[in-house]
Amino acid sequence: MEFVEANGARIPSVGLGTWDLRGRTCTRIVERALQLGYCHIDTAEMYENEREVGEGLRASGVKRSEVFITTKIWPTHFAPRDFERSTKECLKRLRLSEVDLLLMHWPNPRIPLAETMGALCNMKQAGLTQHIGISNFTVPLISEALALATEPLVTDQIEWHPYLDQSEIAAACRKHGLAVTAYSPIARGKASRDKVLSTIGAEHGKSAGQVSLRFLIQEGAIVIPRTSKVERLRENLAIFDFVLTKNEMAEIRRLGAAHQSVL
Ligand SMILES: NC(=O)c1ccc[n+]([C@@H]2O[C@H](COP(=O)([O-])OP(=O)(O)OC[C@H]3O[C@@H](n4cnc5c(N)ncnc54)[C@H](OP(=O)(O)O)[C@@H]3O)[C@@H](O)[C@H]2O)c1
Repeated sequence: MEFVEANGARIPSVGLGTWDLRGRTCTRIVERALQLGYCHIDTAEMYENEREVGEGLRASGVKRSEVFITTKIWPTHFAPRDFERSTKECLKRLRLSEVDLLLMHWPNPRIPLAETMGALCNMKQAGLTQHIGISNFTVPLISEALALATEPLVTDQIEWHPYLDQSEIAAACRKHGLAVTAYSPIARGKASRDKVLSTIGAEHGKSAGQVSLRFLIQEGAIVIPRTSKVERLRENLAIFDFVLTKNEMAEIRRLGAAHQSVL
């Protein structure tokens, strides 16, 4: 596993996304992923699967200290008291005393950012999370968040894949030492069927999905692909034994010129 260093955090470059994984499927996928070498799991209170993520962690036999766990607080819980209550509920469902990373899931213009940022920083000071960060924040909002934070922010988790140019947010994060965590990194499956990515992959003996993930890794991002299929877990992790050339990177960047979100 490779790691990305960001404002004091050491974050595994690949994590397992868990949105939409429920019940036994979620527990089993988390358990198998950890046994196969994943050491980073991404969940959120909104995914309603934190209980199963915690069960998968314990079933895997992998030590808690070897796994990086992220959860996120939903914007309707951004008033400081709600934020604290939500964080404690997340930990209760996960059956953990702390997470590694706690994020604001989306910006909420209805609640002053200063209040929520204060609450987020308090969660770190209270030892409920090792690190804090943001998700779906634009360049101006990143600046605002940084001006208000009294603790270091370590990442902005954003949608990023070959069909979406995120170079401006990536540059802003780099400038301030934040990592970018790329969600929907295979464009919700679309990238795995892409002709350009398949052709490039054939040169390296890799699938189009692996090329999509590798592209983001070479752009400096952390990737959190999701799968409900055990056989794909291994595929999405096997992205560190090949390197895309400068020309291949440029060709993939051209796919993003249309700025298409898949959400
Ligand atoms: N912060 C946010 O607002 C936010 C928003 C969205 C997502 N996220 C996080 O990011 C994670 C990943 O994003 P995502 O779930 O939207 O999309 P994604 O990981 O880009 O794509 C998941 C889809 O791709 C398929 N897939 C996975 N690996 C594959 C492979 N090797 N070949 C072919 N198909 C493959 C999966 O199907 P199978 O299950 O059939 O394999 C699934 O339908 C989420 O699970 C969540 O943790 C965060």
